[in-house]
Amino acid sequence: MILVFGSINIDLVARVVSIPRPGETVLSPRYETLFGGKGANQAVAAARVSLPHRAAIVACIGDDAFGQSARDNLARNGVVDNLVTSVAEPTGCAFITVDERGENAITVGSGANASIREAAAQSFQVDAATVAVFQMEVPFLASLNVARYVRAAGGRVIWNFAPALPAFAARDLSDLLGATDIFVVNEHEAIAAATLLGCKTDDFRKAGSHLSGSGCLCVVTAGAQGAFAFHPEGQSERAEAEPIRPVDTTGAGDTFVGVLANGLDEAMPFTSALKRAVRAASLACLAHGAQADMPTRERLG
Ligand code: RIB
Repeated sequence: MILVFGSINIDLVARVVSIPRPGETVLSPRYETLFGGKGANQAVAAARVSLPHRAAIVACIGDDAFGQSARDNLARNGVVDNLVTSVAEPTGCAFITVDERGENAITVGSGANASIREAAAQSFQVDAATVAVFQMEVPFLASLNVARYVRAAGGRVIWNFAPALPAFAARDLSDLLGATDIFVVNEHEAIAAATLLGCKTDDFRKAGSHLSGSGCLCVVTAGAQGAFAFHPEGQSERAEAEPIRPVDTTGAGDTFVGVLANGLDEAMPFTSALKRAVRAASLACLAHGAQADMPTRERLG
């Protein structure tokens, strides 16, 4: 079973010609209110390609209209949501601008996401069949303790280092890698993480290879170039992306992570799971919004 420990947001999305620079204001004709949050996106991506009741989320929402609609959305998508807790803070909110090329800039108001505690995961039946998924939008120490708990029970941990936090400590990164089986980063996050560990490079391949030296498998997602996996034993492999014209790349990385988790949950060979996750991430870029075009099991094949 897949357990996502993470964030739930409502995304307020404005489409612009170009993303504003500091001090600049740009106008957009309208904005949309969509479902998001890296944790929720990963859980929805996993649930859409999984058999029923195989993907659950542990998360916090506010006792407000955004929280209720986010919970309803999880249920509609088949995510097991009985460990989603309402707290006194408002539901997390992401302020997103998307430009004409489909690139985005995101500011997250954490709200309820900051209230998640490791104890919330203890009601989940963790065992050797658990594939747990973490990101960086909820308190790190709570995530780390749950990851260690999952590994102690023989389960596997996928950790998506997104967003890479500027003030993250090297010691924390070492702890994170020590509790992780598969570390997933984009090119920039790979370089930031490797730099934190003392490997100064602007080449994401070198960064990925260096990160895998810590003992976990490092996967670098690289947009149109697909994904590169660096195994701790030294070998590497690449899965190519579909040739698409992206409409909106928001949530592509989350789709990759959720579908990769499903591949592990269904005991697919890693190379097949990697290719399938890359294909899903490509398909997810064909519509506006993080979750709109995440593929179903039938569509992905
Ligand atoms: O990865 C995309 C997500 O990042 C958005 O849905 C937004 O909520 C932010 O968390």
